[in-house]
Amino acid sequence: MSAIIMDGKALAAKWKADIREKTARLARPAVLAVILVGNNPASRVYVNGKERDCAECGIRSQEYALPENIGQRALLELIDTLNREQEVDGILCQLPLPEGYDYDEQEVLLSIDPRKDVDAFHPYNVGRIMIGDSTYLPCTPAGVMALLDEYGVDPAGKRCVVVGRSNIVGKPMAMLLLHRHGTVTICHSRTPNLGEVTAQADILISAVGKRGLITADMVKPGACVIDVAMNRDGEGKLCGDVDFPAVKEKAGWITPVPGGCGPMTRVMLLQNTLTAAAGKKGS
Ligand code: GUN
Repeated sequence: MSAIIMDGKALAAKWKADIREKTARLARPAVLAVILVGNNPASRVYVNGKERDCAECGIRSQEYALPENIGQRALLELIDTLNREQEVDGILCQLPLPEGYDYDEQEVLLSIDPRKDVDAFHPYNVGRIMIGDSTYLPCTPAGVMALLDEYGVDPAGKRCVVVGRSNIVGKPMAMLLLHRHGTVTICHSRTPNLGEVTAQADILISAVGKRGLITADMVKPGACVIDVAMNRDGEGKLCGDVDFPAVKEKAGWITPVPGGCGPMTRVMLLQNTLTAAAGKKGS
């Protein structure tokens, strides 16, 4: 039997309609400041997407496109100004910062006011995620949790395996599953016999960025398989880590790429911006 396809695009549309309704009820428009340093084409595409999403949901985006050689100090000064600007609700600095200019990404993330940190990358917010008391959830893991909830896949008591240990996805993903009472294993590039571990998963989440990594023999029959990755195949088409055609014949649920986790990640940035705006006095 073929797996249930978890339709992130449809769920994102529902969330966006709800966010649009809520932003319309704010006393003033929600504002997201988007900082882009340099001209990395992939980052430009992401930023354009975020700005389009904002426009669709009644959130005002302010773009700060800076030359790649602007330097750490000027970047920190801009963030300091945005931190103080009352009308700015959220601040996002698109990563990665350009190479070869001595940018210190950690220092940049630390400089963003945690109350405006809609990416949830600031160590203060990371700490709050760790203890299960967060105002903002990191967008990709939050999107995955929303998909699980929508399709009635409850992590409680389940074996959950997360492949990938990035600060942005793998680690917070594991934490959110743990808070929902999953039994969580994190795998990574040095995990021996990866397939033996993934084959035990009731919920398997792959966030590596390696096409064809998760094959059908690595998946437990009936498992829920979430593919967070965005890779390109030999023809330049978007694909994830999971061998979708084979795994969908074995899994119980599966996310497609594109149309699974991607749209939900984008929606969670809007949700966090709404949270930032709604949490202020007088909103
Ligand atoms: N670069 C890739 N993904 C992200 C993200 O979610 N936020 C930011 N700020 N930069 C990114």
